[in-house]
Parts: sequence; C-alpha cells; structure tokens
Amino acid sequence: MIKGFIFDLDGVITDTAELHFEAWKTLADENGWDFDREINDQLRGISRLDSMQVILDHNGISLDEIAKADLANQKNEIYVKSLDEMTPADYLPGAKELLTHLRTEGFAVALGSSSKNAEKVLMQLNARAYFDVIGDGHSVTQSKPAPDIFLFAAEKLNLQPSECLVFEDAERGVDAAKIGGFHSVGIGPKDRVGHADLRFDTMEQATLFEVKAHFKELFS
Ligand code: BG6
Ligand code: MG
Repeated sequence: MIKGFIFDLDGVITDTAELHFEAWKTLADENGWDFDREINDQLRGISRLDSMQVILDHNGISLDEIAKADLANQKNEIYVKSLDEMTPADYLPGAKELLTHLRTEGFAVALGSSSKNAEKVLMQLNARAYFDVIGDGHSVTQSKPAPDIFLFAAEKLNLQPSECLVFEDAERGVDAAKIGGFHSVGIGPKDRVGHADLRFDTMEQATLFEVKAHFKELFS
C-alpha cells in the first residue's frame, strides 16, 4: 500500500534546473571552461561538489579540495541570488495542484532533495506546509544515486520504502529510488527517466488520478 509521497525538488516542484544551469554557466564563462546543456543534464540530482567535479573532469582540470570548494561556493552565491526572484507563481505547472490534492487525501509527504538550498526554495514558493518531512542536502552525506536521502525521508515518515512513491526528474534520482526499493515516477524524457515505474513528460500530466490508475493494486 502506498501511504507516502517523496518529492525531489529541483525539476519536479519548480524549475530550478534552469537557475542552476545559468549559475554554472556564469562560473564556467568566467573561468573559460566548456559548459553546455548536455553537461548540465548530468548534474541533475547530484550534489554541488559532485557537480563541480563533473565540470572539472569534462574540462580536464584537476584542483585541490579547497580550490574546488571555493569555486562551488562562487556558483552557489550566484544561484542563491537568483532565488530571490522566485515567487509562489514559480511552481512547475501541476506541482501545486498535486501537493494540494495529497494534503486533502491525507497522504504523508516528504521532500527528498540533494540541495542545501531546499528550505530557501520552499520558502520562496511558500510550499513548506505541503511537507511533513524535509530531507535535503544537509540530511545525509551520500548524494543520489545513493538511496540515502529517500531512506532518510521514509524513516522520518515512519514508512517502508515499499509504501512510498518517489517523484524524480533525474536519471540518478530514479536510480536512487530503485536501489532503495521505492516505487518511482519519472518526470521528463524517456532517455532520462524511462527506467522509472511510471513516467510523465511533465508534472502537469502527473495527476493523482493518473498515478492511482497506474499503481491500482497499491491504492485502495
Ligand atoms: C539538486 C539539483 O536538486 O541539488 C542539482 O538537481 C544540484 O543540480 C543539487 O547540484 C545541489 O544543490 P545545491 O542547492 O545544494 O547547490
Ligand atoms: Mg531534480
């Protein structure tokens, strides 16, 4: 039986993937690195420092931990500044409707994000009240595809992984859900999240009605 929903944040609840892209792009341009949307897609779901490493590897650059952390901090300052512009109008279409529906039906709801800025994003959206539990980049040390953040959220909800449905837009996020024994819903193209149990192109299509229809035997 599905009793709980665990949502990734960036790319599921709101389109911060675009803001992350712009911040990394600014840092890359300042440093003369190659960076495009294809590499950006590889950063979905992974931590800030892991993202930094992917960009450095792509450019054949090796740096010590301090220099790496300093650059990642620079990116974060640009990113956090851009969050100030975010308002409650910036949910991805369908996300707020689904969260509201889950509240009225009494499901347990958690956030399972790799971001250390999740609280700030939820505050900008005025979304905090939709979540019983917040799992973010401060909650666990291993980032997706390790299942740790979803296991953390499930444990705080007092539920087993098999009682939870994870919503993810990242390939590694869906990997994490599957490794942890969770049911999964992928948001995005087949080549990214086609390995999820159920996939929608957009959150707008991911209504509770459609989800229940697919996982029929797990709801009653
Ligand atoms: C994830 C994003 O949600 O959070 C990644 O998909 C990002 O792209 C990661 O790198 C960490 O975010 P932050 O806000 O801690 O830099
Ligand atoms: Mg995401």
